Amino acid sequence: MSTVVDRSRLGALRARLVGWAARRYLAWRSRRGLDPVTLLPDHALMPLRRDGLDPVPALREAREDAPVRHFPLPFGVTAWLVTGHEEARAVLGRTNGLSNDFSHLVGQAGVQEGQNPGGLGFTDPPEHTRLRRLLTPEFTTRRLARLGPRITEIVEDRLDAMEALATAGEPVDLVRDFATPIPSLTICELLGIPYSEREEFQALSTARFDVLGGAAAFDKISESLVYLRGVVERQRVEPGPGLLGQLIRDHGDQLDTDELAELADGLLTGGLETSASMLALGAMILLRDLDSFALVRDEPDAVHGFVEELLRYLTVVQIAFPRFATEDMTLGGVAISAGDALLVSLSGADRDPRLTPDPERFDPRRPPTPHLAFGHGIHRCIGAELARMELRTAYPALLRRFPGLRLAPDAAPLDDQPFRTTSIVYGVDALPVALA
Ligand code: HEM
Repeated sequence: MSTVVDRSRLGALRARLVGWAARRYLAWRSRRGLDPVTLLPDHALMPLRRDGLDPVPALREAREDAPVRHFPLPFGVTAWLVTGHEEARAVLGRTNGLSNDFSHLVGQAGVQEGQNPGGLGFTDPPEHTRLRRLLTPEFTTRRLARLGPRITEIVEDRLDAMEALATAGEPVDLVRDFATPIPSLTICELLGIPYSEREEFQALSTARFDVLGGAAAFDKISESLVYLRGVVERQRVEPGPGLLGQLIRDHGDQLDTDELAELADGLLTGGLETSASMLALGAMILLRDLDSFALVRDEPDAVHGFVEELLRYLTVVQIAFPRFATEDMTLGGVAISAGDALLVSLSGADRDPRLTPDPERFDPRRPPTPHLAFGHGIHRCIGAELARMELRTAYPALLRRFPGLRLAPDAAPLDDQPFRTTSIVYGVDALPVALA
């Protein structure tokens, strides 16, 4: 018994030491404006790499070799890469012995006091439970239903804007003109950002796209928190119709301005890039797969199956928030020690043949699978239904308005479009299209 306690204490001590060294090093790099991801050795980036829309074959080989596999990282961190579907589900669903709070490791590197990027994802119970309970009522099907007509309008407005560009002989970029503004404006609606402030919000949220920007990205986090704090202060005087106004009305005395701004920022972080990447990459699938194109355009009910398969196949959030073992445990037959990090490869798990047969094939008629594109367990995506609403509205509207939609004739082939190379949220930076 005492050996177990000693090992756990040793693990915690080691994690603290590693954290201290990592923090100093990351802060040093961040002061010089160096991107933290570039310090990872090449093999550590493998789970983030793709070949077009597909995870690289090394991810499949890792899963076939061992669904929970030792994964060396710098600073002497002992990490495990989880690529099996069953094992991934077990880690994400586990409620004790794992922590999402990794402030001991990289938390404050480059992020100054008061810049905490609000994140349910980096919070453990009981704090996580308290914050998540405040948000849950805003994400019920009934509350979200009020956004349905607004999402339709947002999509139609974007289609009008694309048509206007094409009529004027201007290039149309599906990322810039469709995939990015739709989730950004939807989050404005969700939060209740007044129309007069939307341009500023749009500019900030687009800048937040730079997830790998190191020091620059932290500046944007800070800027968006300052902006959101201003929104909260204004809504304290006059609560608006959205989520922020509702939270102020119901819990204004329990939540300070910083907490509210951080919650809003967490929704922006969680909901923007993910949905935008899905919209853009999903459009690529429609452009390359004529069967799916016709299905989504002509059969209104088929969009449900198409979107579910898209979520599984693309799994744009490639890795879940890292989990840290707070006690020794066995997972997938592997002994994990307190202090070890678990990296769950959602994109690996969703291509596991134990989840569905022939998982490397995109099949919009596949029966729904219990995929992990939105995670699982207490940190499962709170915006999953909202994201589905956006996707289910956007694609059929796009194809019905522009039944001749295709890659711009002078554009590089689909496989050569500017895909992100090592981004936690996989995506593409531009997608030039012709509308007819
Ligand atoms: C297709 C779009 C989306 C995808 C693929 C996606 C994916 C995910 C995944 C995989 C997680 C869990 C990560 C983990 O357990 O480590 C997550 C959590 C989260 N997502 Fe999403 N998401 C999407 C859209 C949204 C939207 C629209 C919002 C809100 C407006 C949102 C807000 C959040 C938040 C706040 C969390 C943290 C939940 C918690 O820790 O309790 N997401 N998302």
